[in-house]
Amino acid sequence: MEKVIITGGTGYIGSHTVVEFLNAGFETIIIDNLVNSKIEVLSGIEKICKRKPVFYQEDITDISAIQKIFEEHKDAVAVIHFAAYKSVGESVENPLKYYHNNIQGLVNLLRKMQNTGVKNLVFSSSCTVYGQPEKLPVTEKSPVIKPESPYGNTKKINEEIIEDTIKTNSEINCISLRYFNPIGAHPSAEIGEFPLGVPDNLLPYITQTAIGLREKLSVFGNDYNTPDGTAIRDYINVVDLAKAHVIAVNRLLEKKNKDRLEVFNIGTGEGVSVMEVIRSFEKVSNQKLNYKITGRRPGDIEKVWADTTKANKILGWKAEKTLDETILSAWEWEKKIRNKS
Ligand code: NAD
Ligand code: WQD
Repeated sequence: MEKVIITGGTGYIGSHTVVEFLNAGFETIIIDNLVNSKIEVLSGIEKICKRKPVFYQEDITDISAIQKIFEEHKDAVAVIHFAAYKSVGESVENPLKYYHNNIQGLVNLLRKMQNTGVKNLVFSSSCTVYGQPEKLPVTEKSPVIKPESPYGNTKKINEEIIEDTIKTNSEINCISLRYFNPIGAHPSAEIGEFPLGVPDNLLPYITQTAIGLREKLSVFGNDYNTPDGTAIRDYINVVDLAKAHVIAVNRLLEKKNKDRLEVFNIGTGEGVSVMEVIRSFEKVSNQKLNYKITGRRPGDIEKVWADTTKANKILGWKAEKTLDETILSAWEWEKKIRNKS
């Protein structure tokens, strides 16, 4: 059984990806310090897959901890690297926390990959590296700009670190997946998104409002240059997104990659407004959402959605789930964790 190391594997996207690797017959080795996830996620994964991932509660910024894990699993065929901090607002308040965790963590992993036989990397990048693109949909060739937030900048710098490292080490290969806006939960409702504290992101804020944890959703601006005035994003189902990682690893294992660092946009290719997300939620949950229009959120861009032609043609990957089914999965998960289903 081929073995993959998954950093951040108890997190939101990581846990769904562990499930897809287990389903595809891989052995999964999770490294996560649980700074933004819960140990119970492992039981959720086991319920879905009837198999357990191997789990290390370790911090990837600790090189000696990583060293031991790589020694023990030097036969792993790839690293899938999710472990990072991801709050845009917090990164503006505390940039060094973000630069330390997100950059030191990657540097440590690359060091160990250089010294061991583990030579394939799949990296979690983000559409944030494009900022507000001039042309939409955004392709992988669109200019990468310095993102507004330190968090976003760590993603840009990480891609540069990988590129520079690969130039000096002819064996490491990487696929960087630039995710658009991941939403939803596993259809089993055994795993999903579990934001600690008040959610920053739209969909968890909506489901927490509907379940009664928050009073009202604020819609950040309805004066954008979009059909209904609210901002537009490309919301990608987390299970569809997770599947892209298995395809990426297989591509590297089969040596089908054309470059040693390949970049792919992972989105649906469809732009959806905040009001369209609210309407979809109201439809699938069969209830009205309490919301009000407020001012724009500082730093927000107006609109972005992906050109996914490259991922569709070269990876043979395509988003499959509809917006309604994805939003319903998030709602089922919210009800389950609050014991209201
Ligand atoms: P998440 O916070 O749910 O998962 C990240 C996991 O990494 C958590 O379980 C956390 O405990 C762990 N972690 C953080 N620092 C660590 C460290 N030093 N050592 C060990 N474990 C550590 O986040 P997510 O939404 O699943 O995001 C996963 C990755 O995808 C991140 O790199 C994120 O930047 C990227 N990404 C996320 C989004 C999004 O909207 N969710 C969009 C684009 C890219
Ligand atoms: C979506 C839309 C908000 C909350 C962030 C990061 C980005 C990426 C994904 C990792 C926007 C609006 C939101 C609310 C609202 N992460 N909104 N009321 O801002 O596109 O991207 O997560 O790489 O880097 O910046 O996602 O879910 O926060 O917002 O009206 O309470 O919903 O203004 O238009 P965003 P989001």
